[in-house]
Amino acid sequence: MHVYRSALLRFADDGSALYDEDGLLAVGPDEQGRQRVVAAGAWQALAHQYADHPVTHLPGRILAPGFVDMHIHFPQTDVIGSPADGLLPWLENYTFPHESRFVDPAYGAQVAGFFVDELLRNGVTTALTFATSHPASVDALFTEAQRRQLRLITGKVLQDRHSPDGVRDDTEQSLLDTEALIQRWHGVDRLGYAITPRFAPTSTPEQLRGAGELAARYPDVWIQSHVAENLDEIRWARELFPASRSYLAVYDDFGLMRERAVYAHCIHFDDDDRALMRDTGTVAAVSPTSNLFLGSGFFDYAGADRVGFGYGLASDVGGGTSFSPFHTMLAAYYVGREGQSKQGLSLSPRQLWWQHTAGAAQALGLAGVVGNLQPGCEADFVVLNPRATPLLERKTAQARNLDELLFALIVLGDDRLVEQTVISQAKYASRA
Ligand code: GUN
Ligand code: ZN
Repeated sequence: MHVYRSALLRFADDGSALYDEDGLLAVGPDEQGRQRVVAAGAWQALAHQYADHPVTHLPGRILAPGFVDMHIHFPQTDVIGSPADGLLPWLENYTFPHESRFVDPAYGAQVAGFFVDELLRNGVTTALTFATSHPASVDALFTEAQRRQLRLITGKVLQDRHSPDGVRDDTEQSLLDTEALIQRWHGVDRLGYAITPRFAPTSTPEQLRGAGELAARYPDVWIQSHVAENLDEIRWARELFPASRSYLAVYDDFGLMRERAVYAHCIHFDDDDRALMRDTGTVAAVSPTSNLFLGSGFFDYAGADRVGFGYGLASDVGGGTSFSPFHTMLAAYYVGREGQSKQGLSLSPRQLWWQHTAGAAQALGLAGVVGNLQPGCEADFVVLNPRATPLLERKTAQARNLDELLFALIVLGDDRLVEQTVISQAKYASRA
């Protein structure tokens, strides 16, 4: 058993933030040896139960749940910051040529190592990740995640048309590869598989149908794709699938909307699309830095809440510009204001933080497993140092309540704020 004494942030079931300025977090292995939260709360209330245990005292630090990134591309680590007029030229000029390099397993393994380091440096302890169309890229990332005991979900990208040589796959082989990877990796340690059609325009109807059949046959496997990100993309999808009611409905028509289906972006929706998300239990990965960088648009938070479908935050690296959950939360704050026709909807810092931890976990079907530090959760957490920079130190010292403290961290924070990331009691320092 490990006992920590520090400020402690976690979330109640209704999403409200719980904060103990002098908190206790006790962590110990379950019957399978997996590290879980045994107790969390005020030091005063709990310390007597742990009097026999050595205590790791972290004065001036904040323990908080590890962040959950709902949508990121590991092979786009080196695509960050590639400017383009919009999504489609960005894919054609930068992303597809770069992803073709992952045909080489050694290259994929090297990038996977860097990628996982970067997640951990930034405090991300669970990620739903695109690989490339090359099965070896999936093996490389799962291997690396398993080595660090990271909770990670990924899958081989399906793209059998409108894609250049080097990334385009073969319809039948792509489905055989997907099933073999599910059988090899899904449910092993903390790993999960996601059936991963890139987006409707780069898959034939046959490939989407096959993906939907696999999704029905393996109901606890995830599904991930992109939808309604960019106006040119939407026009193209509508031309290719004229029989479907909308771009989103294409996925439903092929059996790709259900619980554990996660669609990135979901910007240009009407209320029928929102209701389809809600009624199928499908969720959105809101990717604000990507949407701002590629000029895609603004996720409509009020529309999502009005109709009532689930969502959480995502970096979408490399369309997204940062691995840092703090940068993503700040961009979500900007987007929340803009998406409300500038009527001043302000997402609170607690809501933003929830969307990148417990809320994202809930959207992934992992509530009570990750993204929180309530008893029973897997013990993935970050140690934040609010004095990491002179301005953070000055600003956080003036915070009069939790909202002011969390806002200061969101607005001024980056990887420097994350002193340590702890997974299964293995400690990763953010700086070497
Ligand atoms: N749509 C299809 N592929 C991609 C991708 O790699 N990134 C983003 N942002 N959108 C996509
Ligand atoms: Zn993406």
